[in-house]
Amino acid sequence: MKALVLSGGSGTRLRPFSHSMPKQLMPIANKPVLEYVLENIRATGVHDIGIVTGDRGDQIAAALQDGSRLGVRLTYLPQDAPRGLAHAVITARAFLAEDDFVMYLGDNMLPAGITDAAAGFRAARTAAQVLVHKVSDPRAFGVAETAPDGRVLRLVEKPREPRSDLALIGVYFFTPAVHDAIAAIRPSARGELEITDAIQELVTRGAPVRAVEYDGYWKDTGEVADVLDCNRAVLDGLRAARHPTASVDAASELTGPVDLGPGVRLVRSRVQGPAVIGAGTVLEDSQVAPYTSIGGGCALRRTYLGNSIVLDGATVTGMRGIEGSVIGRGATVSAADHGDRHHRLVIGDHAGVEVAA
Ligand code: G1P
Repeated sequence: MKALVLSGGSGTRLRPFSHSMPKQLMPIANKPVLEYVLENIRATGVHDIGIVTGDRGDQIAAALQDGSRLGVRLTYLPQDAPRGLAHAVITARAFLAEDDFVMYLGDNMLPAGITDAAAGFRAARTAAQVLVHKVSDPRAFGVAETAPDGRVLRLVEKPREPRSDLALIGVYFFTPAVHDAIAAIRPSARGELEITDAIQELVTRGAPVRAVEYDGYWKDTGEVADVLDCNRAVLDGLRAARHPTASVDAASELTGPVDLGPGVRLVRSRVQGPAVIGAGTVLEDSQVAPYTSIGGGCALRRTYLGNSIVLDGATVTGMRGIEGSVIGRGATVSAADHGDRHHRLVIGDHAGVEVAA
């Protein structure tokens, strides 16, 4: 079995970050979403993974290289334009050959993993198997109607009036039968070749298609609020760790699970976990509240920050109340004095912001 990870798309809903990085590299607890995806695939015993990329494929290749660091073999498959998930399968046709494969959307987080689903597919080997999850508003997703035994009766992409609350959550298992079905579909109203339509084509042809319910935490990290929510969910499972080269001075204090990377320096600062702080980051006279991920090479001075994500190389000075924020790579945020006002900031890579407190 092979895997196909889709990492194209324009990521318009994740602006401003997607202006400068592919959304699949957004860090959750200091690790890019794509790495969680590859780890979940590796855990199923699949190592031969094709990555379909778009405009920002060079950044993805720079981050993951040949995959050996993660114990997988990566093949990059550039897609000429974001023309739909089924079009991505056409792009990968030669790579996939006549193998079964798992297709996994590179911006979907399923921390509970997909090993049970993979075992179920290998045992039943239906033409297709989709993962579904109950959601409160299915209109934003592909929606599955199923029989009590899990057989899929009908699939509709983003229905205006959903007939079930089971959303497709970005992980699909296929036999090579899907290629014929893809050849038979036409672009949807949004101009894309939808994988949902291809699977519906299999159903129409009478091929067995199964839905497996995934009960764990799931998030499509399409928007900033989703990224923050997902960061909290992953940090909930964090264990305390301190690299031997991390230093915490006598006037600093750690409570709860805190993960300090190599060369982190805490000076007169308090960190309440769950929180993760990346390599070489310095905190002075600062306080980090729970559910915060701070990347590597950052500097926080006289700052209070909680429930937030700070990307690599950002500098935050004199900000006493940052909450629910995402601060981009290399951004500089500073306050003129020591104001206590609360701020919710979404600041893109390399931006500079001065706040009059
Ligand atoms: C895509 C699929 C949709 C699925 C969703 C999961 O939607 O078309 O069926 O429910 O991913 O994240 P898109 O993100 O392209 O709008």
